[in-house]
Amino acid sequence: MGKQITPKVTWVGKIDWELKSFHGDELSTHKGSSYNSYLIKDEKTALIDTSWIPYDKEFVANLKQEIDLNKIDYVIMQHNECDHSGALVELMREIPDVPIYCTAKGEAIIRGHYHKDWNFVNVKTGDTLDLGTTKLTFIEAPMLHWPDTMFTYMSEENILFSNDGFGQHYATESLFNDAVDSSEVYTEAMKYYCNILNPFSPMALKKIKEILAMNLPLDMICPSHGIIWKENPSQIVEKYLQWADSYQENQITVIYDTMWQSTRLMAQAIAKGIQDADNSVTVKIMNAVKDDKNDILTEIFKSKAFLIGSPTINNGYSFAIAGLLEMIKGLKFKKKKAAAFGSYGWSGDANKLITEKLQEAKIEIVNEGIRKLWVPDQSMLEECRQYGREFVKSL
Ligand code: FEO
Repeated sequence: MGKQITPKVTWVGKIDWELKSFHGDELSTHKGSSYNSYLIKDEKTALIDTSWIPYDKEFVANLKQEIDLNKIDYVIMQHNECDHSGALVELMREIPDVPIYCTAKGEAIIRGHYHKDWNFVNVKTGDTLDLGTTKLTFIEAPMLHWPDTMFTYMSEENILFSNDGFGQHYATESLFNDAVDSSEVYTEAMKYYCNILNPFSPMALKKIKEILAMNLPLDMICPSHGIIWKENPSQIVEKYLQWADSYQENQITVIYDTMWQSTRLMAQAIAKGIQDADNSVTVKIMNAVKDDKNDILTEIFKSKAFLIGSPTINNGYSFAIAGLLEMIKGLKFKKKKAAAFGSYGWSGDANKLITEKLQEAKIEIVNEGIRKLWVPDQSMLEECRQYGREFVKSL
């Protein structure tokens, strides 16, 4: 059922407590998610975004509890990935002639997904839609995170509808940021930014500055996933300005995979050495198989430097490390430093290959890393510890 968030705006989305992975299995969603859709009832009525395909019938049935569908004057589609456009077919079956407002790229994506000849109205930045006492202004936000993305600003109620921007995969029945655990929300908001928006940070930075320069009064930010930013909505904008600008904390993350524990022992010794040299730095050790890949990537996002360790296997590195290196490259981290480590039995190629892959990802390589033959004994582990001390000093 819908939830009224202002006299004119009702949330009509779907809270998905069961969602544990997103984008296939590309992104873990430990805390579930929501697909937020908003119904604006003014002299004219507009629906902003819909829901994910599995909930299309539920979405339309719930919407009918809020309004006679024939009273909807406009459908606004801000971004057309299927988690937001998935209920369009079910909805438009009932109101086939209602205009769908979206960017030109949005129209192409809707056509490409659903192959329907609906009544599209293309909008650009600055275009407006008068609803009577309020007005919607569209702001294109290409590549945040798809080419079709746009934001919508509602005057008088001073609401920015931001679609994926400022969102989090976070299920809550409470809806507003002042009614939930703030640290949980920020954990999920950062994970969301890192894993979805980070590759587009230059565009994010530019777009946010452009919106701030518009000096729009802002009472609320309504994203398409997670909570609505009602209490001090600018706080998440300020966070985005930091996150989009080569974000790092005083953290070093040591990530490893291991076959027979040798690379794990090396990881622990290197981490001890880092702490010896600088006990102000936060050191985290993560296992590439046992820890969640997106949580590892989020820890890299927070780090000023990281180390990647793998035993050499079949003249290369492990399956888990291979996947992680591919994701590190795709997320386009900026101003991170790294090095490789690992145990080996004969060829010992993993360090060199990991280093090459990190270079491909435009990560600054601190040094050639460290590798140890077979099972490291105490003196070898002391060398790893010393390596950790020197790693910190060379940052
Ligand atoms: Fe939430 Fe890019 O879809």
